[in-house]
Amino acid sequence: MPGVAIIGGQWGDEGKGKATDLLGDRIDYVVKFNGGNNAGHTVVIGNEKYALHLLPSGILTPGVTPVIGNGVVIDLDVLFHEIDHLEERGVDTSKLRVSANAHLITGYHTTLDKVTERFLGKRQIGTTGRGIGPAYADKINRIGIRVQDLFDENILRQKVEAALFGKNHLLVKVYNRRAITVNEIVDALLVHAERLRPMVGDTSLELYDALNAGRNVVFEGGQATMLDVDHGTYPYVTSSSSTAGGASTGAGVGPTQINRIIGIVKAYITRVGAGPFPTELFDEWGELLRTRGGEFGTTTGRPRRTGWYDVPVARYTARINGVTDFVMTKLDVLSGIESIPVCVAYDVDGVRFDEMPVSQSDIHHAKPIYEYFDGWTEDLSGCRTFEELPENAQLYVKALERLSGARISAIGVGPKRDEIIQIHDLID
Ligand code: GDP
Ligand code: IMO
Ligand code: MG
Repeated sequence: MPGVAIIGGQWGDEGKGKATDLLGDRIDYVVKFNGGNNAGHTVVIGNEKYALHLLPSGILTPGVTPVIGNGVVIDLDVLFHEIDHLEERGVDTSKLRVSANAHLITGYHTTLDKVTERFLGKRQIGTTGRGIGPAYADKINRIGIRVQDLFDENILRQKVEAALFGKNHLLVKVYNRRAITVNEIVDALLVHAERLRPMVGDTSLELYDALNAGRNVVFEGGQATMLDVDHGTYPYVTSSSSTAGGASTGAGVGPTQINRIIGIVKAYITRVGAGPFPTELFDEWGELLRTRGGEFGTTTGRPRRTGWYDVPVARYTARINGVTDFVMTKLDVLSGIESIPVCVAYDVDGVRFDEMPVSQSDIHHAKPIYEYFDGWTEDLSGCRTFEELPENAQLYVKALERLSGARISAIGVGPKRDEIIQIHDLID
């Protein structure tokens, strides 16, 4: 019963979509277990480029059953828009399964996401504005609306009314916005009920049966370890569990059913939104990584902040997730840099930290301690074996493998589907 989790190893956009795609037609199920349409995964197949937000990227592989697990928050307008868009391009989405227990993002969540951010002033998180935080807040406050509520209008109405009561006070009295009516929310949700109904089920049970029948199930994480609500750089995080433990709770499968944990890391780092980022570059090197790597958000189009590879982050990711394999993407972007800095530890007000500091203030004060590696000039996009890489690129990868705490089993050398070097198989 092979269960494989794909987990972001940094601050997101590491190339998780491409890593899922790499597992290809050996996948039977691909499960999104956290987050919502804050995610943006780009997959390039031939000359076609696909940007996925709410649907797991495995949907692009024919024969795969895509699953939206209970841990996801769903904006139904976005879901059906994405389905229609993919169908127009010839992608079969008919097998999609949706957990009856997943929560819904409604109009009041997206409104609140935007107004609360504005009122945070300089403490803004720079959210994607998709209503993610407010929807998870309602879930934890036990006033969320779940997929199954769509099929009992009476209950739905009562729940929306309960959820709106406090929010309308806030919107009108604190934020100076208009009140939202129960009817407008209920109507906007019910529009989708009949189309959604056949997709809805007990996805936890379906996955249990699939795993027991020996099917290959991939749990595709959104966001990343450093954006995890418990283990990331709180409060500059997303509102879900994007680490490996989240795959278990967010899909409803026991942790023993997931036997491979694949951490995806870039050969450098990016971050979108606010929050600490010790190796961030503000100079021409940062600009070079941004332009060469095409580092602009898939979801919001925002330019991504860029920095050098950070070993304490990678080691932390290996530990928190129990990473069995790393996939290192975008090695090609580093071609032509004479001497490549790698952060091996932090200096926090004169004290050396080899591991991620537990104190938020220390993370904010962390200055990178760099080691420098000789670069290479060759274009890597044609390399398909480790031995074909220039010697210095091999040494760079080997050094990062030694420092980061798990083996590197694949190396990305370009955005296209086949631009990858596979060293170890990712499914048992
Ligand atoms: P995700 O959110 O983790 O799925 O990552 P995104 O799709 O947001 O961002 C990763 C970007 O890098 C996408 O545009 C990919 O097409 C691209 N990409 C993935 N792997 C590689 C690689 O090895 N080299 C290059 N140059 N681009 C890559
Ligand atoms: P993928 O899956 C990068 C960031 C936002 C913001 C913070 C909170 O493509 O890697 P939210 O809207 O989730 O409440 O925003 O998290 N963020 C991401 N950054 N990649 C993502 O997803 C992200 N999803 C959220 O920029 O800083
Ligand atoms: Mg992304």
